[in-house]
Amino acid sequence: MASSSIFARKSVADAEREVSHAGGLKRSLGKWHLTALGVGATIGAGIFATTGTAIVGDSARPGAGPAIVFSFLLTAVACGFAALCYAEFAAMVPIAGSAYTYAYTSIGEFVAWIIGWDLIVEYAVGNIGVAIGWSGHFKELMTHFGVTIPAWLATDYRSAHDAFVALGAGTNDATTQFLASAWSNAPHIGSVPVIFNLPAFAVVAVLTVVLVIGIKESANSNNVMVLLKIGIIIFFLCVGAFLIRPENYNNPATGGFSPNGFKGISAAAAIIFFSYIGFDAVSTAAEEAKNPARDMPFGIIVSLVVCTVLYILLSIVMTGIAPWQQLGTPEPMITALQYAQGPAGLLNFSRFIIALGAVAAMGSVLLVFQLGQPRIFFSMSRDGLLPKAFAKVHPKYRTPYVGTILTGLFVATFAAFANIAEVVDLTNIGTLFAFVLVSAGVIFLRRTEPDRPRPFRVPGVPYTPIISIVACFYLMYQLPAITWIRFGIWLAVGLVFYFLYGFKHSVLRTGKAR
Ligand code: ALA
Repeated sequence: MASSSIFARKSVADAEREVSHAGGLKRSLGKWHLTALGVGATIGAGIFATTGTAIVGDSARPGAGPAIVFSFLLTAVACGFAALCYAEFAAMVPIAGSAYTYAYTSIGEFVAWIIGWDLIVEYAVGNIGVAIGWSGHFKELMTHFGVTIPAWLATDYRSAHDAFVALGAGTNDATTQFLASAWSNAPHIGSVPVIFNLPAFAVVAVLTVVLVIGIKESANSNNVMVLLKIGIIIFFLCVGAFLIRPENYNNPATGGFSPNGFKGISAAAAIIFFSYIGFDAVSTAAEEAKNPARDMPFGIIVSLVVCTVLYILLSIVMTGIAPWQQLGTPEPMITALQYAQGPAGLLNFSRFIIALGAVAAMGSVLLVFQLGQPRIFFSMSRDGLLPKAFAKVHPKYRTPYVGTILTGLFVATFAAFANIAEVVDLTNIGTLFAFVLVSAGVIFLRRTEPDRPRPFRVPGVPYTPIISIVACFYLMYQLPAITWIRFGIWLAVGLVFYFLYGFKHSVLRTGKAR
């Protein structure tokens, strides 16, 4: 039924009907498949690339040092409360579309739009960060085959410029030298140095072509990727355990275990939040779950627990094998092995394995999000909130090709020029905000529809969602001011777009089906 309110809600029955009209999906995923899906979408650039900045800090914030392990714990607790809220929705609204669909069926169109718009930050902007992280490890991997990618083709302006300045000021480690060489050796067009991240651009371009032609993301191939990721992490843990030097944890000369106290721990927690993003992606498979009521909460919560345990162990090993101040690179595990003391052959082989594993791990995260974004666009377009082109299916390949190509162009272009820390901050603030809205949605719906069947109930409502909201805001508060400004601008652009387009074309509000 048409409703003029911007708070109009789609009924769950309507949403389910749309899905079955669209052919529906086969309910074939069990609880361990769903867990693997969560782990597959989660372990990527966060742990392999952003941990370095979290440990050492940057010009905008202090680092955690070896106390990074507490940052991982802090963020895991925040994510845990949000995960419970996602689980209640995922079990109650077992249809694809994740938080966007939850909001549309519970809070109403306007909030659904904000979440959908916000999910672009989680998926597309997040993938820019993953592509940049992928590139750093690909560069390392190539060196093991005797191929050196020049720095000006493998970094961004800001990193190159900052390294150039740092080198001039006396910092002289290998990473600074390498990045600074991008600034000094780049070819010029006029007076402008040409610096861009070619591998990051290329990987997204190739994936986009693959996704347009059509790829069945099969649960079995995802399981293989997940086993590979976990296998490589366990390899690092086993090798690293023998390389730990206790003095690295508590060197008074470098500030001891927690050089910047709780400030450093919290600032780092807000960065490494990136490494947890993805467990919520389990909810996008709700339509394919055999028993969503029981298995969705299981998949969401267990994948979060698995990742937390691995991250905590990894951070203990990483900061144990090398002095923490050396780890501030986009490839901290590789750097840790560079500074570790041990047999050169073993260290070199381990670097090769980590680079290979990271390339595969981040490749699979890229795929999940690059596949997910056009499908969110697809739902939003089907609802009339985005132009029809986004719901266009390719006549031959049966894929949402317009959304896939636009996502690919957006992610590839920014991946070529953006700075990973800035992209990660923006992704984090956007995703944390989505978590806040989902948590608030649980409280809201318990009040407005107390009798709706809830196969999984978050314990302790309203306190649990309130803790989730407070914890997410706390992490958001740790992010630099410029990130808040960027996110504010993004939301403002979204509002303008909604009132100029979605408000007028919404299928729910106008009653005109597409
Ligand atoms: N959690 C995902 C990653 O770390 C986004 O790559």
